[in-house]
Amino acid sequence: MNIKENISLKQYNSFGIDVKARYFSAFASTDELTELLDGSLLASSRPLLILGGGSNILFTKDFNGLVLKNELKGIELVKEDARYYYVKAYAGENWHQFVSYCIRNNYAGIENLSLIPGNVGASPMQNIGAYGTEIKDVFYALEAYHLKENRIEVFSLNDCAFGYRDSVFKKQYKGQYIILSVTYLLRKQPAFNISYGAIKQELARMQVQELSIKAISEAVIRIRSSKLPDPAQTGNAGSFFKNPVISQTEFNQLKQSYPAITGFSLNDEKVKLAAGWLIEQCGWKGYRKGDAGCYEKQALVLVNYGRATGQEVLDISNDIMASVIEKFGVVLEKEVNIF
Ligand code: EPU
Repeated sequence: MNIKENISLKQYNSFGIDVKARYFSAFASTDELTELLDGSLLASSRPLLILGGGSNILFTKDFNGLVLKNELKGIELVKEDARYYYVKAYAGENWHQFVSYCIRNNYAGIENLSLIPGNVGASPMQNIGAYGTEIKDVFYALEAYHLKENRIEVFSLNDCAFGYRDSVFKKQYKGQYIILSVTYLLRKQPAFNISYGAIKQELARMQVQELSIKAISEAVIRIRSSKLPDPAQTGNAGSFFKNPVISQTEFNQLKQSYPAITGFSLNDEKVKLAAGWLIEQCGWKGYRKGDAGCYEKQALVLVNYGRATGQEVLDISNDIMASVIEKFGVVLEKEVNIF
């Protein structure tokens, strides 16, 4: 059991924030995990933070407890039937590498989720989504370790209560489980989803003659690379806020004052607004103070240009929220976890 002390977490969070963890260790098997959890250190070093790819977290101060990095690895085809492959991936696998593996093997269903930063374990946590696909559409089951009961439990689709960037693991079970593996239901016959205009346009630009999951993946990679910063170059955690959902009545009122407002009807009553548009209209796009800022090509993404502190990024996010409330009366909710 190798526990390090007072180590920098800069390389373990995609924002690249330089804070320290009092204690830090990693586990590559369930045995290593239980050994770490059994250790007397744990009792004296609460709180505990389980870290995956660190791509949805903003550290605002040193972490005065134990950080455990999930490094469970492996991908297995556990079962197949006439329509589906049941593919199990361990939580510490890099998400995009897993997507690429599936595309190479012709396992269809997650091509629209190409290039999302982070690890497999985080994918059900916040029901990651992009370009019309969410994890809930391809989810079969997951295994999670219950920290208090010290046992492994299996969650089915219904148990997870997936919503927009949401699941039971962000709500009532927050901090109670460690996700160990996720089994996805991937199609033998692809069901291409190119409902997003941006994908259709990119496929046309690529002069794709015959649709394939590989072509869709490439289109998504091109779109994302053109407007989202690469965390390896510029620290960020993807969308910092969720897109807010308001009532159709509120939307109609806003539309009168702002005819160009971007919204997507979820049903007769609810409309999802583009937070990036709201933030841009408040003048934040491209804003920079010190090394913290609002990305110039996508206002929903906050960035660390080098040596920003988490507090500086958080301050900008709070100022953005205040100005969006003031101008539009709309409350933004942070998508990123603040520590
Ligand atoms: N927009 C602006 N200004 C901006 C940014 C966006 O006017 O600065 C407008 C766009 O023109 C477009 C609309 O807002 O009309 C939506 O923009 P975009 O397609 O870029 O998507 P998004 O709603 O900003 C969401 C997800 C992304 C995901 C994309 C594509 C959330 C919080 N974000 O962004 O997910 O990649 O859709 O499906 O739902 C993430 O969660 O980290 C993430 C990147």
